[in-house]
Amino acid sequence: MNEKRFNLAHRLIHWAIAATVLFLLLTVFLRLGWMNKDNMGSIIKESLAKSGTIISNEDAAAIGKSVRKPMWNYHVLAGYVLIGLYVIRMIITSVQGIAYQSPFLKGISIKDRFKSWLYIIFYILMAVSLVTGFMIVNGPKDLKEPMEFIHVKSLYYMITFIILHIGGVLLADFGKEKGIVSRMISGDKQ
Ligand code: HEM
Ligand code: HEM
Repeated sequence: MNEKRFNLAHRLIHWAIAATVLFLLLTVFLRLGWMNKDNMGSIIKESLAKSGTIISNEDAAAIGKSVRKPMWNYHVLAGYVLIGLYVIRMIITSVQGIAYQSPFLKGISIKDRFKSWLYIIFYILMAVSLVTGFMIVNGPKDLKEPMEFIHVKSLYYMITFIILHIGGVLLADFGKEKGIVSRMISGDKQ
């Protein structure tokens, strides 16, 4: 297991997936926060009111949505990139095997079993996000609403995973697996 854990293919795909996921989350936070269509709408409405132009809340929100659109296109673009990276990840895994211990192995510690399940559940939930995201954009109209309903929940598991994962690898680096983070960056040194 260990020789494939930090090899080049494994590290490159790990950081490519990590960067794309963080970028996707950035677009989500911009959509929910600074670039929220209603927030932008009320700024537009107030600014226009100063020069005597009155528009409805709905029109203001529609303008806000159009301003947000070019930013949001990058969510979908990054989503397609992540679909490609996911397929590459699965090809690498089918050639090399998993880079962590199988959770079904007898005699592994509870911590390792938890870690392995965390990675496996993460990949299953990520597949759900990718399929539902793809279906919102490309699927039939009558499936759009149920797909959206599931897709928007992606935020919960993603944030939970990132907190557990980064917390876990930092704790490992401070504890028994010193240098694990730098090995994930530059590989195993001879
Ligand atoms: C959103 C960001 C991230 C995602 C989605 C992510 C995902 C993953 C996944 C799924 C694995 C399991 C092995 C694999 O399939 O590649 C893994 C392993 C690992 N990640 Fe991340 N990761 C992220 C960010 C980070 C960061 C910021 C660090 C460093 C602080 C890091 C360090 C590691 C290390 C050291 C391993 C190997 C752990 C082990 O095998 O015991 N990751 N990551
Ligand atoms: C792991 C990958 C992904 C994550 C974590 C994610 C996350 C999210 C979240 C949290 C939202 C809701 C934003 C809100 O509440 O306003 C959202 C919306 C959306 N996502 Fe994703 N997404 C991912 C992948 C994708 C992919 C692959 C596509 C398409 C190719 C996509 C297309 C969309 C679209 C079109 C919406 C808007 C839905 C609406 O109008 O309500 N996403 N995404």
